[in-house]
Amino acid sequence: MAPDRDWWRHAVVYQVYPRSFADADGDGIGDLRGILSRVDYLASLGIDAVWLSPFYPSPLADGGYDVADYRNVDPRLGTLEDMDELIAVLHERGIRVVVDIVPNHTSDRHPWFQEALAAGRGSEARERYIFRDGAGPQGAEPPTDWVSMFGGPAWAPAGDGQWYLHTFAVEQPDLNWDRPDVRADFVRTLRFWADRGVDGFRIDVAHMLTKDLTEPLPSRDELALIPVDGQHPLLDRDDVHEVYAEWRQVFDEYDPPRAAVAEAWVDSSRVPLYARPESLGQAFNFDLLEADFDAAQFRRVVTENLALAAASGSSSTWVLSNHDVVRPATRYGLPHPPRKTDGHPAVKHGVQWLREGGSDSAVDRVAGLRRARAAALFMLGLPGSAYLYQGEELGLPEVGDLAAAARQDPTFFRSGGQDPGRDGCRVPLPWSPDGPSFGFGPGPAHLPQPAWFAEYSVAAQEEAVGSTLRLLRRALALRRRFAETAVFEWVDTGDPDVLRYRRGGGWEVVTNFGPAPYDLDRIEMAVTSGLNIMGVVPPDTTVWLAPASGA
Ligand code: GLC
Repeated sequence: MAPDRDWWRHAVVYQVYPRSFADADGDGIGDLRGILSRVDYLASLGIDAVWLSPFYPSPLADGGYDVADYRNVDPRLGTLEDMDELIAVLHERGIRVVVDIVPNHTSDRHPWFQEALAAGRGSEARERYIFRDGAGPQGAEPPTDWVSMFGGPAWAPAGDGQWYLHTFAVEQPDLNWDRPDVRADFVRTLRFWADRGVDGFRIDVAHMLTKDLTEPLPSRDELALIPVDGQHPLLDRDDVHEVYAEWRQVFDEYDPPRAAVAEAWVDSSRVPLYARPESLGQAFNFDLLEADFDAAQFRRVVTENLALAAASGSSSTWVLSNHDVVRPATRYGLPHPPRKTDGHPAVKHGVQWLREGGSDSAVDRVAGLRRARAAALFMLGLPGSAYLYQGEELGLPEVGDLAAAARQDPTFFRSGGQDPGRDGCRVPLPWSPDGPSFGFGPGPAHLPQPAWFAEYSVAAQEEAVGSTLRLLRRALALRRRFAETAVFEWVDTGDPDVLRYRRGGGWEVVTNFGPAPYDLDRIEMAVTSGLNIMGVVPPDTTVWLAPASGA
């Protein structure tokens, strides 16, 4: 691969959730050989990089974000040799590889945690995690009333009067980032994958690693009153950047330097701390994902984030979808906009609607898809890098109606079924209109796929003129003509429901968020997410205008 130091600044990164992408061996779980069998497809999309969600050995208490061994491949997904082959084959096709690093917690099956449980109170092994004596007689009560991101108490009993902290599932004990051996082990993991040719890292909950757990520990209510200004005991602490400064040195040992992107759900004003060149270099900006399909909100998000990216010396990232949120084609077709909550992203973005008894039949799929296509084209024109989640290129809706017995996400179980969780966006991809799992594999898939998946399948969309797959492919090809330029300026439209921006070389993007068609002053439409009417942008539609002839 050409050693381009800055590839990540304007890359289109396609997120593969390995267990749900393609299953080569027929056990119902996607695997690395499945991904290998679909490399032609990945190359055909015109993406710059693939981000692989965790493929490490894991008991799957949280879809693989509970890692039992950071430097290996889950045997159900393949071997290290398969991973080497996948990296090599993707590189041959000009596609870079980003892997997920999960440093806030390990799996409870990680040898360190097993050792900590066995070694007992006061042991060195327990120091790698966050163990505290319980409150009340015999330590029978959790040390504090904190709640986990997935619901229920954030402490679990170790069986001997001590409790351990788990910000997420019970099976995900938090590590103690004060420990030099914890720090050293993650540096080893980064080198392990960088040495194997991995080009970048996505850092899971990057804002949570370091904690100040000086006694007495505050109550949940007290915690909520402490400002998140770099000194909060649990979140977005300034001292987490000491970790990333060390990692940055490691990344920069490589040529080209390894890239990193922070998953940090922090206030926008603090995102640049993670995105600085001396820290991780880039951070997800989830504002677009959290916005309604609304011109004023989209405009504000873009203006603010371009300024933030410039301030940090980074480039912005744009995200509409990932494995934690309700898919955009459903979100934008909900009977009412999802209400924002203060919790973890997993409990936002339309799961609220599902929780309130929404069902797939209540979604306006036609409008949802129209807006998802328009939003995707709006996003792909912006300067910076864009992240696409597998199935987004198909306009795939959320599977809302999964039976309780089929669900896997710990948020479903920890909330006593109140929160449907994130399985609906993790249902294995439909590749063909038929077969036991719509081409996902030779047998049934690990999450049931609805019959309507057939019409969204890759094969069906390869054939259909105007399909979402063909639309996004074309947009990704055209994007190359201006993606690397920094030029961005808003163009006045005279209509509050219509946004228009200009990019390098005279390319323009126009999105009509409103209910009435919008007349353009130009007809050089290169691609449209909606009906192809010369010189008109229909409602819920984005068009890209090629540079005026002669320009
Ligand atoms: C991140 C991941 C999510 C996971 C959580 C805990 O938010 O995206 O899937 O459950 O971290 O690791």
